[in-house]
Amino acid sequence: MDLEAAAEERARGAELAYDAFAPVYDDFTAHHNYDLWLGNLLPRIESHGIRGRRLLDVACGTGKSFIPLLEKGWEVTACDVSAAMVEVARAKVGDEVELAVADMRELPVFGEFDLVWCLDDAVNYLLTRDELERALAAMGMNLAPQGLLVFDVNTLTSYRTFFAEEVVIEHGGKRMIWRGQGSPDQQPGTISEASLEVEHLEPASAKPIETRVHRERHYPEAEMLAALEAAGLECLDAFGHDWAVIPEQPLDEIRHTKAVYIARSARGGAA
Ligand SMILES: C[S@@+](CC[C@H](N)C(=O)[O-])C[C@H]1O[C@@H](n2cnc3c(N)ncnc32)[C@H](O)[C@@H]1O
Repeated sequence: MDLEAAAEERARGAELAYDAFAPVYDDFTAHHNYDLWLGNLLPRIESHGIRGRRLLDVACGTGKSFIPLLEKGWEVTACDVSAAMVEVARAKVGDEVELAVADMRELPVFGEFDLVWCLDDAVNYLLTRDELERALAAMGMNLAPQGLLVFDVNTLTSYRTFFAEEVVIEHGGKRMIWRGQGSPDQQPGTISEASLEVEHLEPASAKPIETRVHRERHYPEAEMLAALEAAGLECLDAFGHDWAVIPEQPLDEIRHTKAVYIARSARGGAA
């Protein structure tokens, strides 16, 4: 690959990775328990006060992160950088949800939302501090007065395990091979890579899926808090959890697999 192509691949890495991943994403994540995750996150979010039921789901993927709220009667707008992921979401919800293809690094203002969230390590695909601050500021611009922004990022433990291991999942007639290229002593603030290879088992003649690289950057808590402040946001809550999804403080990069942040605009707004 020449230098220009490599730069393009890096800038559009998440889009290319998820355009390829879209047909098998729900198979790969079939064991992710969103009822447990969101069921434990929502009370914690609600403890900070939610004024209404308008959700903007940034990096919505195939809809797994907004469908539970849609089913609870929320009004949902959602977007993702990958057109293929958005198409899978659209096939599930039709025009019940306003869906758009949008890059969170240049997120438009879709409206005023009581909750803007960006879940399941989508933020880790932002590879520089500048990209992170731009995305956070743009999410903040979509908040209603007193609206809440919620997102999670992977902890060091996730990069030292999942991103440093080979994981094989067979589901839905496919074998999916996740090859983490990181190391068990991955350092804070660094970029980890993994590739995802898919083999069709039934029918073996199904359209081949291109192997793509997933590249994520770890964000330590101090850096995230500084980025939130620079983006005009006030952090209300930061906690961690492991697979049991019990919110715990303080956030522990080794004990927890995910860090979760809840913020609101530092500009304030009508009370
Ligand atoms: C692990 S998936 C999570 C999807 C969904 N939120 C969920 O919980 O199932 C990460 C998503 O982030 C999206 N993404 C990564 N970088 C993005 C960007 N710059 N702008 C918008 N979406 C992005 C990917 O396309 C992918 O759908």
